[in-house]
Amino acid sequence: MRLDKFVCKSTELTRKEAIQCIHSGELSVNGEVTMNEAVQVHENNTVLLHGARLKARDFRYILMHKPAGTVCSNIDEVYPSLFNYLEIDKVSELHIAGRLDADTTGLVLITDDGRWSFHITLPSSDCRKVYRVQLSQAIPAERSSDLVTQFKQGLQLQGELGLTRPSKLDIITPKEVLLTITEGKFHQVKRMFAAVGNRVVGLHREQIGEVCLDLDVGQWRYLSKNEVESFNNN
Ligand code: URA
Repeated sequence: MRLDKFVCKSTELTRKEAIQCIHSGELSVNGEVTMNEAVQVHENNTVLLHGARLKARDFRYILMHKPAGTVCSNIDEVYPSLFNYLEIDKVSELHIAGRLDADTTGLVLITDDGRWSFHITLPSSDCRKVYRVQLSQAIPAERSSDLVTQFKQGLQLQGELGLTRPSKLDIITPKEVLLTITEGKFHQVKRMFAAVGNRVVGLHREQIGEVCLDLDVGQWRYLSKNEVESFNNN
């Protein structure tokens, strides 16, 4: 990681303050003073600030129950940012692994570990996302089995060339289904139902990988070590 980021992660300094320290020669890497904030450093490098060794803080992995009417963004937009619910330091360093629309509720994973979130959102990692979907049109009983097959075989989304990856549709009632997908295209679930002539009127993410939502709306918690590591096995 870049030296300025490493300094931020291991001290209470902001990015601007870290760069100031680096530019004024207060940092050394492996015994040499460096004034280049972009130099790459790793855990096993010896980085000293005023002679004291810095150790990067552990990454943070957070699970949150996103309320409706919030945006998955670090800043407030038309709706308030989801991050307003997090009363922790350095919120600006965090990002969301798999955004939800403003009107969608449910499970959101938040982290400052870019490699971990990249793995979760990469389609080839086959990470399952389970959505509970409310539909405007009832699915006629005689169409159920064809629809399940269509979702399994892949759907042609408007504006896309290929088909969606195989997905699993479980019909709970004519107007409520569970949909399991392994991709995260823009508005994917809403576009999948539009492709079969229906419309999503309620969308809630219940699960990502092995991690299930177990919190009330607006609550958050850190993931356990097992939960964090479960994504490496996907
Ligand atoms: N698919 C959507 O259409 N919206 C979401 O928020 C998540 C998945």
